[in-house]
Amino acid sequence: MVREIGGACGEPKARRFPAGFAWGSATSAYQVEGGWTEGGKGRSIWDSFAHTAGKIADGSDGDMADDQYHRFAEDVRLMAKMGLRHYRMSIAWTRIQPTGTGPANLEGVAFYNRVLDCLQEAGIEPWVTIYHWDLPLALQVERDGWLGGEYVINAYVEYARLCFHHFGDRVKRWITFNEPWCVSVVGFGTGEHAPGRNWQPQREPYIVAHNLLLAHAKAVKLYREQYKSWQEGIIGITMNSDWREPLPEDNPSRYMRNCEAAERTRQFFLGWFADPVYFGDYPQLMKVRLGDRLPAFTPVEKAMLKGSADFFGLNHYTTTYAADALPGMAVGFVSTESKADWVLVSDEEDDAPSSRDTDPVEVQSIYGWEKVHRHKKKTPSNVALGGWFTDCGTQWTCDKEWSMNDMGWAVVPWGLRKQLAWIQDRYSPPGGIIVTENGCACKEDDAASAKCDNQRVAYLHGYISEMHKAIVEDGVDCRGYFVWAFIDNFEWALGYSKRFGLHWVDYNTLERVPKESSKWYAKVIAANGLVP
Ligand code: NOJ
Repeated sequence: MVREIGGACGEPKARRFPAGFAWGSATSAYQVEGGWTEGGKGRSIWDSFAHTAGKIADGSDGDMADDQYHRFAEDVRLMAKMGLRHYRMSIAWTRIQPTGTGPANLEGVAFYNRVLDCLQEAGIEPWVTIYHWDLPLALQVERDGWLGGEYVINAYVEYARLCFHHFGDRVKRWITFNEPWCVSVVGFGTGEHAPGRNWQPQREPYIVAHNLLLAHAKAVKLYREQYKSWQEGIIGITMNSDWREPLPEDNPSRYMRNCEAAERTRQFFLGWFADPVYFGDYPQLMKVRLGDRLPAFTPVEKAMLKGSADFFGLNHYTTTYAADALPGMAVGFVSTESKADWVLVSDEEDDAPSSRDTDPVEVQSIYGWEKVHRHKKKTPSNVALGGWFTDCGTQWTCDKEWSMNDMGWAVVPWGLRKQLAWIQDRYSPPGGIIVTENGCACKEDDAASAKCDNQRVAYLHGYISEMHKAIVEDGVDCRGYFVWAFIDNFEWALGYSKRFGLHWVDYNTLERVPKESSKWYAKVIAANGLVP
């Protein structure tokens, strides 16, 4: 039960969390391990993508990353020092099956055995993500990757089986996939992530998502039928979603449309994956809007999907306002200045510079704020960045009052509270909600500035406070929280330029330095909540 203490004479109250609440921190294999050719590891789509010129903002790659492949024992010591009891990590498929199929690579198995044993000795519970984006390259090149239907689904399930078999004696918390939205939309819609496809943004993300969902459901079925009873673990999936708040409007009918737009985007963002997992099918409004672009589940698949998670994993970072798209708007990220006869598209997509407005405007893309030019309206089919963004029929924007972090993401702690309440209300997920990621990128030029990461402490404090309100005041069944990230790491298309860690990494020496936030978070863990 939640215990409130203090509070007399206006002094601040301690905000304790329910007993057994899991406080953790997270990373993923490609972002921290390095050792990209060691121990018989095969190539993944991220090895190949990062080695392609122009794909990563700072020209870097994950070849070395934090070298956790060799330094995991040091990292586990740092975890223990903080009193961390839960660590979310992922397994690199290419260490277990270098080309995505075939027998287990025993050197790869031995590596994760060492990591898991080390965590066990330190009394730290691993939460293991089976797939955090690093698909074996051979599956992409030879079998079309996540577009490859049954082939890739079965390959994934076999890989998951090897994980359960080899590691299930120590791993009791499994996560099938990390952020299938990103895999689908950023990998196959915008193409900013591996495998970097944006050929058919109207179609491919929906096919990819469908295959990911089926792979998830099949792996869960296998775990429940063959491993769960004797390994006594739980299995779920981690989905990401920003909160969408209706843009305030004086005009009541316009405001009503913004409310509908916000709800529609929530369902497109999170419901796309969570509805199949909890209800066995896609949201009705997605079916209506997408028609035959949205693949259909068979009755058997629906039954397999429904109830296929023992907990609800949520990654949440930010909030935006949502407004109903004006007729003719063709992209998902727009500024409040948008006019009906203009659309905002990334300049790369512009084939007719003469149609440009001379002054660039600031807009928010999924990677933050950028300056783009407005263009005379084109027909939607001419606009490459359509697909999911257009399909939502929603524009989004931020309040000028909101502060931004180094990703250009707005810091809006109350958005987490609303997001949690929405999930509780819609799904009442058995096993509760686990916030599997939440965190803040800060500009840190050197170890000295990183050590005083007050902006990160304020961010975490704000979000944890709102999570507490969600539990205590709104009755949300939230059972765990993981800070992204335990340590600075390779931030995908943005390389090492963005730092999320509780620990600073000097990328020349690979030295780790605890930041203020790690000490602050250690106190939260020790107190099981926020103490004044
Ligand atoms: C989501 C992803 O799971 C993780 O890999 C990424 O680094 C963080 N969010 C921050 O963008």
